[in-house]
Amino acid sequence: MSIQEQLESVRNNFLADIESFPTSQNEIENLKSKYLGRKGSVASLFSLLGQASETERPQIGQDLNNLKKELSSLFSSKIKESLSNLSSGNSSYKDFTLPGRSQQNGSIHILEKTMTEIKDIFKSIGFHISYGPEIDDEYHNFTALNVPEHHPARDMQDTFFINPETVLRSHTSNVQIHLMESTEPPLKFIVPGRVYRNETISYKSYCLFHQVEGIYINNNVSFAELKGCIEYFITQMFGQNKKMRFRPSFFPFTEPSAEVDIWDDERKQWMEILGCGMVDPSVISNVGYDPEQWKGYAFGMGVERIAMLKYKINDIRLFYNGDLRFLDQF
Ligand code: DAH
Repeated sequence: MSIQEQLESVRNNFLADIESFPTSQNEIENLKSKYLGRKGSVASLFSLLGQASETERPQIGQDLNNLKKELSSLFSSKIKESLSNLSSGNSSYKDFTLPGRSQQNGSIHILEKTMTEIKDIFKSIGFHISYGPEIDDEYHNFTALNVPEHHPARDMQDTFFINPETVLRSHTSNVQIHLMESTEPPLKFIVPGRVYRNETISYKSYCLFHQVEGIYINNNVSFAELKGCIEYFITQMFGQNKKMRFRPSFFPFTEPSAEVDIWDDERKQWMEILGCGMVDPSVISNVGYDPEQWKGYAFGMGVERIAMLKYKINDIRLFYNGDLRFLDQF
């Protein structure tokens, strides 16, 4: 075989080898030294140069140099290609010795979960779900609920004012008014939502929290029905044996009014979770219903406190600081 023929055959072999390009570091090194190493095929072609006649030699020398250049450049472009395939994940190359990647699964926030439980319980006894504005006028947050201007009851809840007529709602009771204004009685709704209060922050109070409001209006509604409804809710939420109590209370928008406490097993004390009562006749007439014909009960509960009692969470601030060590537990 002439040197020229040998040169062609080295070139063809190389092209075939590089076609099924190896991907491991070792294979790459081996292929490189097979062709371009000190004892590789190209080097041995150079060593044949002496056998060529003096007239052929310059041409063959040039051809060999060209071959060497061609091989090196093909080689380095193949390496580049394979590296970029590796980094874009296209390579069929798999390193089974790499440690596995752990997956971080998200979860439903415990407040959202509690909210869903509360909604499901009330849906099961015929309540519809509605929502209302978090930024509202004073009329819906206070006046229509029988809390006139300058009435000390406005101080019961330290309200965030946006301007003298507009508030961040201090309770979800504002939606009672919106619902009754837009719906003909009878009606039976719960209203989940956020509320805001400029309160001293503690383990059980925060400037932002969630309530679920309930309102039921019909021809004949009694306090006994209200009690039955709340007791049903509490046993569904906490089980039969949870200690609870109704306590007489005062709200401007209900008469009579009560508050409900649940026994906090951790702190060994009562924790208030909701206010309720029979809708005051003046609220009924504020929305244009006839108070002779329509009666109702209403309630408003604190969702964080319910979640705290049910899931043994000892500080309301944990719901809001996004600490994964807390969130991952649910
Ligand atoms: N809005 C009251 C609060 O935030 C809770 C409440 C009490 C709601 C009595 C009611 C109710 O609907 O009838 O403290």
